[in-house]
Amino acid sequence: MRGWMGKFRSLFLFGALTMFLTGCGVDNISALKPKGYGSELLFDLMLISIAIMIFVFVIVMAIYAFVLLRYREKKGQEHIVPKQTEGNKALEVIWTVIPIILLLVLAIPTVQATFDLADQSTQGDEGVLTVDVTGNQYWWQFDYADQEISTSQEIYIPTNERVYLNMKASDVIHSFWVPAIAGKMDTIPGENMNTMYLEAYEEGVYEGFCAELCGPSHSLMYFKVIAVSPDEFDQWVEDMQNIDPEATPETTTAQEGQELFNNNCMSCHAIGGASAGVGPNLGNFANREKIAGILQPSKDNLVDWIVHPDEVKPGNQMPAELVSEEDAAKIADYLLELDHSDVGNDLEMQSVEE
Ligand code: CUA
Repeated sequence: MRGWMGKFRSLFLFGALTMFLTGCGVDNISALKPKGYGSELLFDLMLISIAIMIFVFVIVMAIYAFVLLRYREKKGQEHIVPKQTEGNKALEVIWTVIPIILLLVLAIPTVQATFDLADQSTQGDEGVLTVDVTGNQYWWQFDYADQEISTSQEIYIPTNERVYLNMKASDVIHSFWVPAIAGKMDTIPGENMNTMYLEAYEEGVYEGFCAELCGPSHSLMYFKVIAVSPDEFDQWVEDMQNIDPEATPETTTAQEGQELFNNNCMSCHAIGGASAGVGPNLGNFANREKIAGILQPSKDNLVDWIVHPDEVKPGNQMPAELVSEEDAAKIADYLLELDHSDVGNDLEMQSVEE
């Protein structure tokens, strides 16, 4: 029984590993299922490197097995010392040239892709969208300067268009990563601005992550890339531009909530218009897929977040217990009425947390 277990233990391990790793193949999250120009380039590079690795592995293993079998010590030959070879020009040339060729095969597309991903040639051209991205502890701000709108946690882009990102951070280094659409890029505080671009092939909600350890809530610094058709994108921009922060909410509690929000929260946040400054612009708050990037959008969760932000996202900048639970419920009523655009609402979202 023991021997049987020993033999199959590795098989069980590989089986379990396969089951576990299939989780990496979820659509809209995985770099192995590219849905954009950048991720496709990177995926192709992965395939080339894996092919080269397999090639080298198979050749080396074949030679190893051959030598092992062909030149093993045979019965009656225990004391024979084989002929010793020292230096063989032909062999040495072969095992120097083959790696050089393999490195070239890997290097040429890698350098090409590196320049391709860094290409900024059409930035600033007529009709080309640029979004300013700011990484903050622990949320993302997206400013559309030309459109004079600002949003947070969810960046909307039109499909099949190159959208340039100008990226920085307000506090510490973060890293913007959307595996299914593009590679990742650090956002750095100070004068240095990094750039990259997004180009999504299909409509969808793509999961984004902060990929640079930035504090206790680093792992909660999710965001979404919402790719919609160019027409829908124009509609979204119009909807965002039409947000009126003074508009009177429908219910009485929401009206009270609006007043409480204006008195307590507006010094950091904004509703509609351009960048808020310290905190996220909440103009389209009720359209978001998640509260604070991580919680399911329900009133209870929102009240929880407003009163005890530090329990939800440790180390974040929002003051705890700024308002009572009762007032937070009114503010929640107000915020959950802020659904100013239904663009992207029909898109299905797959998420790692679900
Ligand atoms: Cu921001 Cu990790």
